[in-house]
Amino acid sequence: MIDDQALHHLVGRLRRARVVAVMTGAGISAESGVPTFRGADGLWRHYSATDLATPDAFARDPGLVWQWYRWRQGIIGRAQPNPGHFALARLQSRTTGFSLITQNVDGLHQRAGSANVIELHGNIWRARCARGCGVVQDAPGQAPREEPVAERDAVPVCRCGALLRPDVVWFGEALDDACIDLAVRAAEGCDVFLAVGTSALVYPAAGLPLLAVKAGALVVEVNVDDTPLTPHAGIVLRGKAAEVLPSLESRL
Ligand code: APR
Repeated sequence: MIDDQALHHLVGRLRRARVVAVMTGAGISAESGVPTFRGADGLWRHYSATDLATPDAFARDPGLVWQWYRWRQGIIGRAQPNPGHFALARLQSRTTGFSLITQNVDGLHQRAGSANVIELHGNIWRARCARGCGVVQDAPGQAPREEPVAERDAVPVCRCGALLRPDVVWFGEALDDACIDLAVRAAEGCDVFLAVGTSALVYPAAGLPLLAVKAGALVVEVNVDDTPLTPHAGIVLRGKAAEVLPSLESRL
């Protein structure tokens, strides 16, 4: 059950807001069938994201890491944006000052029509040179340009001879400076900040709603569960993003 009173209050604040920032995490894509990282469905074989999404894991076994990403690409390639993604795209089109920050690498916001998405953790459909020669290209495995089965387990190689890696941010790696600058500015300059479907555990992303609180914004959490952000949120909307966001947007 969505808290009707909280929703009503938020609608008033959103109508008056000059600038709105939204940050999403894996929970917004859950209804599209993309497994979250820390949920019950987050394991692949017996590995968790923290086992595989690291520079060490790639150095040790790049083939294994690519197999995991190809598995995720397969799921994401078949997934469709859900009503939560579409509601945010509509919210953007009716709000003058709007920033959408995502930790997701699935590209589903863009497929739902969102523009200027700040992708803090990269994009699973790109690969880049692991040695850092500067090459960035479409990631192998991208549907519909599917490779022959025999090549699926191979580790792709850059034209400079080094390995290619997924163009995503792994644990222990720095975020792109321009992306995090944009996200910090959005958090510090907004009147309302919505944190949607994130466990609020992974920094620096988890720090963005806290910056917004500090700057005086109303911070709203949309999540099926409590997170470390919950005590700091001015409004907590318990429920699935794919249900809460359309319900909110339709009342504006
Ligand atoms: N609607 C709203 N929230 C949901 C839903 C849903 N349908 N389903 C799950 N959630 C919530 C969970 O309660 C949890 O708080 O979404 C959150 C998902 O948390 P994580 O799996 O930790 O995903 P995220 O916060 O995006 O992870 C951050 O960690 O593994 C790294 O780089 C990866 O970007 C990722 C980062």
